[in-house]
Amino acid sequence: MTSADGLFARAVDVMPGGNTRTTVFVAPHPPYARRGEGPYVIDSTGHRTIDCNNNYTALIHGHADREILQAATAAAAQGTAFGLPTGYEVEMAEVLRARTGLQQWRFCNSGTEAVMMMVRGARAHTGRDLIVRFDGSYHGTYDGVVSAQAAGVPGGVARDVLVLPQNDIDAFGDAMARYGHRVAAVLLDLMPNRAGLTPVSGDFVAAARRLASDCGALLTIDEVITFRLGVGGLHHQYGVTPDLVSLGKVIGGGYPVGAVGGRAEVLKSFSPLDDGSVAWGGTFSANPVTMAAGMAALRRFDACEVAELNARGDELRRRLSATGLAVNGRGSLLRLLVEDVQRTWWRLYEAGVLAGTNGLLALSTAMSDGDIEQIEQGVVRACAGR
Ligand SMILES: Cc1ncc(COP(=O)(O)O)c(C=O)c1O
Repeated sequence: MTSADGLFARAVDVMPGGNTRTTVFVAPHPPYARRGEGPYVIDSTGHRTIDCNNNYTALIHGHADREILQAATAAAAQGTAFGLPTGYEVEMAEVLRARTGLQQWRFCNSGTEAVMMMVRGARAHTGRDLIVRFDGSYHGTYDGVVSAQAAGVPGGVARDVLVLPQNDIDAFGDAMARYGHRVAAVLLDLMPNRAGLTPVSGDFVAAARRLASDCGALLTIDEVITFRLGVGGLHHQYGVTPDLVSLGKVIGGGYPVGAVGGRAEVLKSFSPLDDGSVAWGGTFSANPVTMAAGMAALRRFDACEVAELNARGDELRRRLSATGLAVNGRGSLLRLLVEDVQRTWWRLYEAGVLAGTNGLLALSTAMSDGDIEQIEQGVVRACAGR
């Protein structure tokens, strides 16, 4: 087996930076994964870590889960992709409706695509262009939701996006009083990871619902990460009903996925049965393997499992905080607030814990109590003397 450095030398020759996802880069270069096994990842040097990254929160049951693999292989054995819709996507839409109460669904291959189509659907439905989003929230890599100053993003994008401070009801109210008549969608993440995994306040969410409705705009909630925190997503726990939501990650059972759900009246913008519908393509959208794997993952993530995993996360956060560490998050998602995240990432890795490059820890149902204890010890050791 090639060492990580050997792989990196080959990789930089054929890929910019030596990999495909800037989001997984750590200097001098990240280790290369060889395989996953339940809660563990083994890299190309044979080093084993407990996986608290879980592909940036997407793997709710760890790696190579037997039931998910069986569901995926059974679907694949009948054909992996068709130029026709299948019963799998119908069943998945029914599952998501039952979990969220949201009437209609469409599928794509990533959270980025889901947010992009959600925004486009909101613009089509309202006949307006302006999107309100909040500073520091990450919604994927679509032009309209990244910094307008970012290289490669056309300057014109800034004209149709208003970026407001997180959790500031007054600034939000003022902006809506001024621009509300032009706003198509308020785009909200209830616990933005890049902004430190701090849950948004209930008052702010209530204000978002009220201000959007008062201005004739849609409330669009990005639950790509937070869906794992409740059977129907985190918005249920806030008691808010969005017009549209974007999902991804856990609903694909470890395979590429994205979804947009919401009121039928709004989703009508995508319906080919209506004139002037918004085109929604994707050669591999709603592919049977993803749908089957996702349903197998969600079947084993019912109210009891969700509550149990969240309780384990809350307990781990409590224990880590008791050692003096600053830890944000909620339920099965934790975020270590440390100054030198890169150094901490490597120290965690050496201590046997694979985290997100920003200090994110995501638990999976594959972890035993012993694994959670080892995570705690690894984090404490890695952060000692910080
Ligand atoms: C809240 C949120 N929205 C959207 C995305 C984009 O999803 P994807 O990476 O599947 O494109 C992410 C990815 O981490 C996310 O955290």
